Amino acid sequence: MPTTFSIKTYGCQMNERDSEALACLLEMNGFQEVQEDEDPDVMIFNTCSVRDQAERKVLGKVGLMKRRKRERPDLVLGIIGCMAQRRGESLLQELPHLDFVAGTDQLQNIPDLVKDCLAKKGQACAIDMGPGVFRELDGHRPGRLVAEVSVMRGCDQFCTYCIVPFCRGREKSRPIGDIVAEARMLAETGTKELLLLGQNITAYGVAEARARGEYTPEFSGFADLLEALQEVPGIQRIRFTSPHVRFMNRRFVEAVSTLPKVCPSFHVPLQSGSDRILKLMHRNYTAAEYLERIQAIRERLPQATFSTDIIVGFCSETEEEFEMTRQVMQTVGYDMAYIFRYSQREGTQAARTLPDDVPEEEKHRRNQILLEELARHVKAANAAAVGTTAQVLVEGPSARNPQRWSGRSLTNKMVLFSPQENLHAGDVADFRIVRATENALYGELCR
Ligand code: SAH
Ligand code: SF4
Ligand code: F3S
Repeated sequence: MPTTFSIKTYGCQMNERDSEALACLLEMNGFQEVQEDEDPDVMIFNTCSVRDQAERKVLGKVGLMKRRKRERPDLVLGIIGCMAQRRGESLLQELPHLDFVAGTDQLQNIPDLVKDCLAKKGQACAIDMGPGVFRELDGHRPGRLVAEVSVMRGCDQFCTYCIVPFCRGREKSRPIGDIVAEARMLAETGTKELLLLGQNITAYGVAEARARGEYTPEFSGFADLLEALQEVPGIQRIRFTSPHVRFMNRRFVEAVSTLPKVCPSFHVPLQSGSDRILKLMHRNYTAAEYLERIQAIRERLPQATFSTDIIVGFCSETEEEFEMTRQVMQTVGYDMAYIFRYSQREGTQAARTLPDDVPEEEKHRRNQILLEELARHVKAANAAAVGTTAQVLVEGPSARNPQRWSGRSLTNKMVLFSPQENLHAGDVADFRIVRATENALYGELCR
């Protein structure tokens, strides 16, 4: 019987992707993946540190595993990912029933760590982030229509509120050739859409170009990458997350608005609509510059839609400054937005130098106002889609109601429709939108 494992993932898409690659690596090492409730021999928690709540959730969950471990002392428990990187050894002391901790640059070494733990070699901690050779794991679960591909690791932006640069280390980009090879392999196994991942994806290749002394404001390694991926046969759609306004130069705008496979929906984190707050956050752009980039894309691609990330209640944010964020939301008209209440993270510049002085109730109130603002816009935009035609990548039976099938439009809207003969998962077809709710569009196949 092979040793079984299960990975529980918290946090962002980068963690999702790391978990997938790790699962493939463990399988290559003879382990077998099972569901969490199937009593795996090895339980791995891939963790997030971005907000306090994210850490507390995992700590609670791992705390609960103490009982399971008492009933089954041979169970191996590991914490990996961002919280592992940030807290390291201290986690092993805090949670004596934990077997190993592995940081964000240690994915390759996890099979050996697990084997050592199974051989009862005692608690282990691996969190080195040395400059060593950067080799991305490229294993994927087979048969994914939409596949995630990490194109870079780390972040060098050091926004003052953000823990990510401390958890994920310095920016490093993979060579274009490696990414294209991975995309080709995916296309050969049925993948139609790529979701490219990087914390600061528009800085793809920047650190390397700087080291070569070749960096200029016109440089966009990311545009080069998109052009190369455009040529991969079988890949029909390309999306990416997250761009940073600072690197959305002319070359980038040109590439995303002219390459046919790049989908016309963009996630562009705003964080705040106030220039004073943006400066305190160390975002390196003003609200006007942000809007100017959105406008530049819209001029070339009138059908483009946008989504964003926003933080409310950052240190010293006044009501007027909050209103400026609401203004930008109204101006752009986002399709989707993640709105967060500021959470102070130990070790960041904001935690060291700026008081977390907006009361929790006030953060909550501002959050609610923006959620309502968003819902209003999404409802109106979805209603306006009725009567239009949407190109849909058919995914198959919908998760909620298997009588219905679902797929995504070019702007990443969920489209629901009745199953049809001759229509299969992976097909791309045009649907006339006949009805809309806040969450989905309902379509009829165009003949
Ligand atoms: N690299 C991406 C986002 C990474 S984290 C970018 O720059 O856009 C995802 C989102 O979490 C951020 O965009 C931000 O809105 C939010 N976030 C990060 N740190 C936070 C904190 N300390 N408190 C609240 N939200 C935070
Ligand atoms: Fe965090 Fe800023 Fe880097 Fe995004 S760009 S991961 S918000 S430091
Ligand atoms: Fe969280 Fe790490 Fe992603 S802190 S948001 S899992 S990069």
